[in-house]
Amino acid sequence: MKDRVILITGSSSGIGRETAYRFAAEGYRLALTYYKGKTRGESAERKCRRLGAADTLLIHLNVMDNASIASAVNKMKRKYGKIDFLINNAGVGFFAPFKKQSITNIENQIRTNLEGLIKMTRAFLPYVKKGIINIASAAGQEAYEEMITYCATKFGVRGFTQGLAIEYPRLKICSVNPDETATRLSGYVGRPPSEVADVIFGVVSEKIRFNPGGDVDVWEVIK
Ligand SMILES: NC(=O)c1ccc[n+]([C@@H]2O[C@H](COP(=O)([O-])OP(=O)(O)OC[C@H]3O[C@@H](n4cnc5c(N)ncnc54)[C@H](OP(=O)(O)O)[C@@H]3O)[C@@H](O)[C@H]2O)c1
Repeated sequence: MKDRVILITGSSSGIGRETAYRFAAEGYRLALTYYKGKTRGESAERKCRRLGAADTLLIHLNVMDNASIASAVNKMKRKYGKIDFLINNAGVGFFAPFKKQSITNIENQIRTNLEGLIKMTRAFLPYVKKGIINIASAAGQEAYEEMITYCATKFGVRGFTQGLAIEYPRLKICSVNPDETATRLSGYVGRPPSEVADVIFGVVSEKIRFNPGGDVDVWEVIK
């Protein structure tokens, strides 16, 4: 796998970090990103090297910032020149009754989870060789109270993913939908993030089948 490059956004924490460890242990070359967690990002990168990653690149990335996305593309281009799979994982959730969600809370969720994911896809697409995995959610299939802005972004991610697969039939494109997973986002309640990482690895290694642009539901794969 030494020639395979995987880019995972939001790999300084939670699902993204576990996914990085999973691919590192298989000897992939990794592009990792952090936003506010520089120290956590650096420590995740060190662990990936220890686990056996063939190479690593750690990038500061804020998907809400166009210049930051452009700079990430340049760094990836200089080091690897291509990526096999883009894993759009970075995301935030603010969970409260709708009237208690501030404009900033609403903007952060939409700009990170949906707008940022779409812009990342557009910027990196010319370099993607095999596929794109977008991390949506069970909350992108069914709405839940006190997380309705978050649900709207994840419904949007699934729609975007379906359309993208129609326009790019040669790429493997799907949404991976975690249910509650024990990370910072959920208050550390739920399944271990390593289980979601296993599912993402299963998609990339073609052990898990899916319809183009379709859903891979973590709870259906890991029972
Ligand atoms: N945990 C769950 O129950 C659950 C369920 C379904 C779906 N998901 C989805 O899984 C994905 C990963 O979330 P998680 O649960 O692993 O949460 P997490 O532990 O909070 O990790 C979120 C990651 O996203 C990064 N990030 C946040 N804002 C960013 C921005 N503007 N630009 C770039 N990166 C940014 C964070 O970077 P820093 O820490 O460096 O700032 C961090 O690495 C998200 O898309 C989430 O919606 C989670």
